[in-house]
Amino acid sequence: MHRSSFIFSLSVWLLITGSFAQENNVPSPAFALTPPMGWNSWNKFGCNVSDGMIRGTADAMIKSGMKDAGYQYVNVDDCWQVSRDANGNIVADPQRFPYGMKALADYVHSLGLKFGLYSDAGSKTCAGRPGGLGHEYQDALTYAAWGVDYLKYDWCNTTTQDAKASYANIRAALNAAGRPIVLSICEWGTAKPWLWGKDVGGNLWRTTGDITDKWSGQTKWPDGSCCSNGMLAILDLQVGLESYAGPGHWNDPDMLEVGNGGMTDAEYRSHFSLWSLLAAPLIAGNDLRAMRPQIQAILTNKEVIAVDQDVLGHEGTRVNKSGDLEVWARQLSDGSRAVVLLNRGSAEQEISTHWQDLGYPDYLSASVRDLWAHKDLGKFTGKFTARVAPHGVVMVKIRPSDSSLKQ
Ligand code: GLA
Repeated sequence: MHRSSFIFSLSVWLLITGSFAQENNVPSPAFALTPPMGWNSWNKFGCNVSDGMIRGTADAMIKSGMKDAGYQYVNVDDCWQVSRDANGNIVADPQRFPYGMKALADYVHSLGLKFGLYSDAGSKTCAGRPGGLGHEYQDALTYAAWGVDYLKYDWCNTTTQDAKASYANIRAALNAAGRPIVLSICEWGTAKPWLWGKDVGGNLWRTTGDITDKWSGQTKWPDGSCCSNGMLAILDLQVGLESYAGPGHWNDPDMLEVGNGGMTDAEYRSHFSLWSLLAAPLIAGNDLRAMRPQIQAILTNKEVIAVDQDVLGHEGTRVNKSGDLEVWARQLSDGSRAVVLLNRGSAEQEISTHWQDLGYPDYLSASVRDLWAHKDLGKFTGKFTARVAPHGVVMVKIRPSDSSLKQ
């Protein structure tokens, strides 16, 4: 070979292998550019998962209008797996999933939806099923062959494992398997995954322990250890983490409890509004096959979902707190602000948001739209005030008027 063509071929080879090597460590920038939306079995069904229930849920995702509203992923959480075979391959429960996981994924895909599975970075999952430790590359190949689009990777039974290295390992394995798979880091915030989750190719990371279906406070686990968290307890733990989120890499305050029965509809509206303000993954956790219309209306409110899915990917923050009364605000890509006026107290209260809190000058005139009433409320200058029901929110979009911007 002529020397120059040898050097040319060598550089092409280096370029190709170099980019492969990079691909193994870095997530594709096209993953999860807005917070993932879907459904997961755990919050409602726990270990009671089955082929029929998951297919029924996928059907319901279409019939209920959730797919139209943007929900994509149908995710099976813990307990789908029972053992490993003689070659170390993970085995799905043959009683509960008699057609296997590939057939189930194919069914979900046939509806235009995506399919997610759960495993664990340790030797066993949290429910004691086989974990992924030592089988990362083998499992990634299996998941890719089954058509898995989303992997939630838990942190039980990890003894002395290093969290960052463990998640980097499973991401490299998924990338090597050659299928784009969203990686959901479920490490509960213990090793501050917001500091390294993006670097290891995580697309979302849990910031806290598990959510529980109640408004506030915590609940001890059955073994007496502490604790799962009510919605407000989780909300408070998000303060200060905002800057770590962005397109492709999101803080995950855990899956939604909307519709599971432990909160009132007003409280569920607050939960859904705040998660959208936080640019949180919207992973429903209720029985989609048997939703009351009120719950369906919450989960499919397109104006609130549009806030969650705003392409700027700017997570909202608490901009004001006075006792039980809080203002949360989020910058949107069109220059407007999404604002949640939150009343944590048990009596109706008036709450104001001042333009200064939103980064707007006082003189600015802005139109205000109520995202739950689906109503334009008119133009306001300097501040906006509303009466907010107990445990409720008023969620608005505040958009500077064009004439105001020209001032
Ligand atoms: C942990 C996770 C939950 C769920 C269960 C399954 O508690 O944080 O979200 O996946 O395990 O066992």
